[in-house]
Amino acid sequence: MLTEYNGQKIIDHEYDVVVVGAGGAGLRATFGMAEVGLKTACLTKVFPTRSHTVAAQGGISAALGNMGEDDWRFHMYDTIKGSDWLGDQDAIEYMCREAIPAIIELEHYGVPFSRTADGKIYQRPFGGMTTNYGEGTAQRTCAAADRTGHAILHTLYQQALKHQAEFFIEYFALDLIMGDDGECLGVMAINMDDGTIHRFRGHQTVLATGGYGRAYFSCTSAHTCTGDGNAMVLRAGLPLQDMEFTQFHPTGVYGAGCLITEGVRGEGGYLTNSEGERFMERYAPSAKDLASRDVVSRSMTMEIVEGRGVGANGDHIHLNLMHLGAEVINERLPGIAETAKIFAGVDVTKDPIPVLPTVHYNMGGIPTNYHAEVINPTKRDPDKIVPGLMAIGEAGCVSVHGANRLGSNSLLDLVVFGRAAAKRASETVKSGESHKPLGADDGTRAIERLDRIRHNKPKIPTAELRMEMQQAMQQHAAVFRTGDSMAEGMKKIDLAYAAKDNLGCVDQSLIFNTDLIETLELDNLLPQAVVSMHSCAHRKETRGAHARDDYPKRDDKDWMKHSTCYISDKGKVTMGDRPVHLYTLTNDVKPIPPKERVY
Ligand code: FUM
Repeated sequence: MLTEYNGQKIIDHEYDVVVVGAGGAGLRATFGMAEVGLKTACLTKVFPTRSHTVAAQGGISAALGNMGEDDWRFHMYDTIKGSDWLGDQDAIEYMCREAIPAIIELEHYGVPFSRTADGKIYQRPFGGMTTNYGEGTAQRTCAAADRTGHAILHTLYQQALKHQAEFFIEYFALDLIMGDDGECLGVMAINMDDGTIHRFRGHQTVLATGGYGRAYFSCTSAHTCTGDGNAMVLRAGLPLQDMEFTQFHPTGVYGAGCLITEGVRGEGGYLTNSEGERFMERYAPSAKDLASRDVVSRSMTMEIVEGRGVGANGDHIHLNLMHLGAEVINERLPGIAETAKIFAGVDVTKDPIPVLPTVHYNMGGIPTNYHAEVINPTKRDPDKIVPGLMAIGEAGCVSVHGANRLGSNSLLDLVVFGRAAAKRASETVKSGESHKPLGADDGTRAIERLDRIRHNKPKIPTAELRMEMQQAMQQHAAVFRTGDSMAEGMKKIDLAYAAKDNLGCVDQSLIFNTDLIETLELDNLLPQAVVSMHSCAHRKETRGAHARDDYPKRDDKDWMKHSTCYISDKGKVTMGDRPVHLYTLTNDVKPIPPKERVY
């Protein structure tokens, strides 16, 4: 068995559960598992409270009904419609029903939510959230001003510390350790601080590694959002699902890409074009600026393409909130006032913010069921579980967001499925049980990759290849797509993937070597960019965030199915599919049959 690397002993750890990632999902799972007495390790490449959840602004959805009529069944309906009928309805039922106890728990754990005059959790309207199955506007998004992710992340970290979960901070996960029978037995990692190599064994390994927004040139995602767990899954020969569905948030700051929360429009802000027109009234007469994100992003793009963009180059749109007044802005939206000042030089009480649709969220990821267990579909069993492996949060594709996620359903997904993973582990893992012996994969696979990247003499700088990938994704997997453009995109992205063998490190040290870590991250991003671009070209219809000019209609007959995508080390892509769950979990609700999606 592999015992040493680079003249140093490999350090072995045995846990009941190993969680990779310390964002909202990872921390909720970590403390839930520690709370029930499971020996739990949490590995994270950044300090937990710097995880990308910290950047979530507008809020977390739950039909609490604090600000008017609401029901979790309305929330379920909105989420299915928002998903353009690609979401799994059993999982959506689970999420919307469990949202209510999950948020009350968060309140009890100490999340400092904003309050109504009578002391209840404050809730604001968000896009696509309605009452009575599409008739009214729901105020469903629970907010801590416009720093909700920050508030939640800090509270969850405190809970994890309270329950004595063990943290391995600034550990970078290298690869899964897979057993001979296809089960997951743990994960290999490098301690970035001292360069030691660690082998973590767990009865469950939980990937909470976030999305891969950094495959694109302009995104609201942190530089750390490189989808490391997704890439580990692909290298283990498992598929990713629905990788063609990338969400463009309508309001990224023009030029900088930073997020300006949808909560701005929830509080009454609106978009205008170069004629000062509130154009969303034409595209979504009922929901207007609070239509779902795919609809708003497409409408903004149309305005720009048709010559009604603002600015010297007519290439962006204005977001107006001056009319809200300084008092509302200071109380409800202090963070975006600061962001607009720093990144656009705008005083939001006087001038509109220049905005542009910006990559924000990956609906696709590692397929799971609603218990967070990873699926490796076969023809006979499209819901076949991979023993020992779970995925949650943006890394997972459970799939509650289908082809398009509603704003504020992401923080909810993190919390509900982090909690679900902890519940499942408490039922299936026996604390202290001995670990199965390792098979052919004893960590060598991970070490060989590390060694190859580390010792390779770079023929292309990491930053240059990363730029090629990001520009190809930005240009060819954009808000609007065509077969021709994606064919060109596939050529470019396949070439970038082939060039990954030319990556290497100028600095070969194992100790706090950002050259090595950035190259490992790019090596993770490239296969995700490839499967994403190929999945885009494969799906010949328009659904949710995947808008094709050459196939402008949704095609339920041929395409109401999840796509799955595999990639070999040599870059050969294989597409597959699995059925959407069009059934509910209980008899409390009936499935929502597909219909035309208008707002
Ligand atoms: O606009 C926002 O505050 C983002 C929320 C979300 O993506 O859920």
